[in-house]
Amino acid sequence: MQILPVAGHIGAELTEVDLRDPLDDATVADIRAALLRWKVIFFREQHLDHAGHIAFARRFGDLVTLPKRGSASPADHPEVETTADRLELGGKFGMDHAEWLERRRHIPLRGWHTDHGARLDPPAATILRAEAVPPYGGDTTWTNLAAAYQGLSEPVRAFADTLWAEHRLGVGYLAKSGPDAYLRHLQDHQIATAHPVVRVHPETGERLLNVNPYYVERILDVTRAESRLLLEMFVEQVTRPEYTARFRWAPGSIAFWDNRATLHLAPADTAHLDHPRVMHRVMLAGEIPAGADGGRSRSISGERLFPASG
Ligand SMILES: [Fe+2]
Repeated sequence: MQILPVAGHIGAELTEVDLRDPLDDATVADIRAALLRWKVIFFREQHLDHAGHIAFARRFGDLVTLPKRGSASPADHPEVETTADRLELGGKFGMDHAEWLERRRHIPLRGWHTDHGARLDPPAATILRAEAVPPYGGDTTWTNLAAAYQGLSEPVRAFADTLWAEHRLGVGYLAKSGPDAYLRHLQDHQIATAHPVVRVHPETGERLLNVNPYYVERILDVTRAESRLLLEMFVEQVTRPEYTARFRWAPGSIAFWDNRATLHLAPADTAHLDHPRVMHRVMLAGEIPAGADGGRSRSISGERLFPASG
């Protein structure tokens, strides 16, 4: 197996491995080490089916089973969530796709997120497999939160170590006037957690600048003005291009990312292309994050993703 880095701080392509084969323990260890070192790893031309995808993922941990998935997800494989249903999301709440994106992403950089980051126990990793993708467009971008933390000055790192933030599903949503089914859904299914602004990675011990505009609206225990300006600084830091890598998908591509050490930016340039984009996602169960002082995240609202998570 070859490990070919794709950018200075993040991302590596792993070649000369066929994920349909049973992997020996040494190969699994090498893949895990590459994931921890490069934060997101890519495989190409891997034509796994759902069972193969699940079998590969199981070599790296327990799998998350979501209580609700989109209608394109395979009924007989509850660990697999199929995201062919992007267009379905807005429709479910009475909006076309453009309005849906506009209302959910109207604040700057809103697309950057960790998967299920507002849960008490966000997934440790996501393994996303492309089945069908547009001939151009639709790239995904990741950023390295350890590098972003290290890129702060020492005094600001020390200050950030002391901060906590509220991560909440639906922050920044621009509600419709009158009845709004999505707003109602958010109110009825609130998911929110107080997470440390600086999270310590449970495997590498690295400190991670754990903020993202998709879920974070306020820094806790500071004034609103302080919170706004601190978030502006931290969000600018984590989205700086030098900490990122961008991936061009093809059918059979797989991206396997550490969902604790990265944010990613889903593409928003394909809705007009009228070409299917069918992706299958399997997530590894995570743990309750710990901050720089050892304090653990606290649930504000919502269930855990993986009830056994410690
Ligand atoms: Fe995502």
